[in-house]
Amino acid sequence: MLARQLLAAVCALYWPAGVAKAQDGGRAPIEPSHGSAKANAFHIFNAVHSAGRLWGSALNHNGFGFFPAVIPKGTLLYHGSRQDRPPLGLEWLALEVEHSELFSISRKQQPGGRFSSPKASDASGESGPASARAQKPLTHSDAGDGAGRGNSRGYFHTYRANRDLNLLYIDGMAAAKTTFGTLDSQDLLLRENKTGPWGDNMGDLERAGSICDMVTDWGFDGFMRVEIGFEVIYCDFSSGIDLTGVTRSLMPEDKMGTGEMLVYQVARAVTRGYDGLAGQLRLDFSGMVSGFFFPINVSNTDPGRPDLVRLAAAGMDELRDIKGYLRDVCLQPRRFTVGWQGIADSIVSRFADRLAFMASEKVSMENFVDELERATLTYFDAPSLPGDIDTESERRSSEAVDRCAEHYLLPAHVVRDDWSAEDRLIHTAIKTVARDICRSLFDVRSSLLALFPDLPPKTHRISKAGDGSELERAVINSRQVLRRLMGRLAWTEWKMIRRCPVDEMLFVSMFPFGADVDYWRPGCRRIEEMTFSRVGYWGLDRDPGNDTERRFGH
Ligand SMILES: *[C@@H]1O[C@H](CO)[C@@H](O)[C@H](O)[C@H]1NC(C)=O
Ligand SMILES: *[C@@H]1O[C@H](CO)[C@@H](O)[C@H](O)[C@H]1NC(C)=O
Ligand SMILES: *[C@@H]1O[C@H](CO)[C@@H](O)[C@H](O)[C@H]1NC(C)=O
Repeated sequence: MLARQLLAAVCALYWPAGVAKAQDGGRAPIEPSHGSAKANAFHIFNAVHSAGRLWGSALNHNGFGFFPAVIPKGTLLYHGSRQDRPPLGLEWLALEVEHSELFSISRKQQPGGRFSSPKASDASGESGPASARAQKPLTHSDAGDGAGRGNSRGYFHTYRANRDLNLLYIDGMAAAKTTFGTLDSQDLLLRENKTGPWGDNMGDLERAGSICDMVTDWGFDGFMRVEIGFEVIYCDFSSGIDLTGVTRSLMPEDKMGTGEMLVYQVARAVTRGYDGLAGQLRLDFSGMVSGFFFPINVSNTDPGRPDLVRLAAAGMDELRDIKGYLRDVCLQPRRFTVGWQGIADSIVSRFADRLAFMASEKVSMENFVDELERATLTYFDAPSLPGDIDTESERRSSEAVDRCAEHYLLPAHVVRDDWSAEDRLIHTAIKTVARDICRSLFDVRSSLLALFPDLPPKTHRISKAGDGSELERAVINSRQVLRRLMGRLAWTEWKMIRRCPVDEMLFVSMFPFGADVDYWRPGCRRIEEMTFSRVGYWGLDRDPGNDTERRFGH
């Protein structure tokens, strides 16, 4: 295996994918392009934002992306099995205890050869998406203790990484064994159009085997996917992980409880990963390769789900080109140059609530205008002279849009000289999205300002002036503009349950603000409750005024 790996590395060095393939029938291979990164900017932005996070991966379940990933030394990984020994060769590992416990349930065989199956363990029985692999160990025969005596004993294994584990992370819900696109990046791209056979384990043993053969040649220990929980398909249990414990699970008859909460408990356990696994998974965004970087047709071939992107409309030649490109990136050293997900997060956290607020009918015209100005004027260099003319203000607005779009990318610019081609493509996509947000906000601002052509230059109280109904119509139109923007952005954040209504915020006493109640019973607070007088908990003057400013240290 090592020899093949070396050979691949040498080949990649001397014959870059492009050259090798151009001889192949004389067709020039497709390359990633900034045009594609722009055309698919919203998809790329969301793929970066959702990578390694269960929530967004469940909603955008057809993934086109691959990321080199590291699970750090010391991380615990779990496995449920019919065996009390580590599997030989490849097997599945979970990041959550409960996820693996689905596969370590013991069952007693009843007369007639059927296994007893307490209600709650139906999901882990002979059917269901996750079951086949664990109930039937994939790599060697079923010979746990009790076999032959009519018992099927389950074992729960704990492993610990004894070094950093290198994995290929496949985005979307790539462990979902479906026919509507969740397997495209594996079956069409990595496996060059092989799927099934859809037998017991839904073709997953063949899939795992062929992908392991490939990714171990690329220097990985395995690959990683998402279903109800994160899973690692680990290609060789004899390397990189140590078995730290095995427990034999009780027969259902020997337990006090019914076990009926199992599915609830598994689902609850994996919600930990909705926003990512924090320190347990590091994705190398600078090594991201996505189908969205390439000029391919990503439309769905199934008219019933036009919302779903597919790789099925792309040709096999193109998919092989992407695979070749991916292989070349994987064979290079890990980079971790830019934490692009942090940059996507900074944009989402700045604008998600503000856009939802402005798009809401509940919000008054005045609050709409206040919010709009808070979201735009940060980037607007106010006129220094009274009587600035319109063209001047046009220029200022366009500079402000640049400044606004650039703002969130500044952390990436500090290492610009080290950017990989992939960094540049992600930059193009994120900048495209940021510009759309900023452009839309400034367009809305201009449309409101246009109602007040004679507004004295120093005035900013546009909500107080002019014809109310005209302003109202303009605000209604503006909401439409912002709702369309939200449609393009399609942030999965907006599908999460809000902690507070759109016009309230979760508040805990934070110096110098906060009344007693905000310390003892933090909760949702309305706009009108949040004023400079909301003080008192921190002592000092309970009637603040300029006192508040003093306490800030100004
Ligand atoms: C892309 O694929 C879809 C689905 O197969 C097809 O309907 C559409 O015509 C294709 N678009 C282009 C530009 O080829
Ligand atoms: C994949 O194989 C199937 C069945 O052989 C074929 O119908 C399909 O067109 C192939 N897909 C691509 C992208 O070539
Ligand atoms: C702030 O302090 C000044 C002088 O002490 C006082 O005249 C003014 O009324 C105060 N302002 C408020 C808002 O309390």
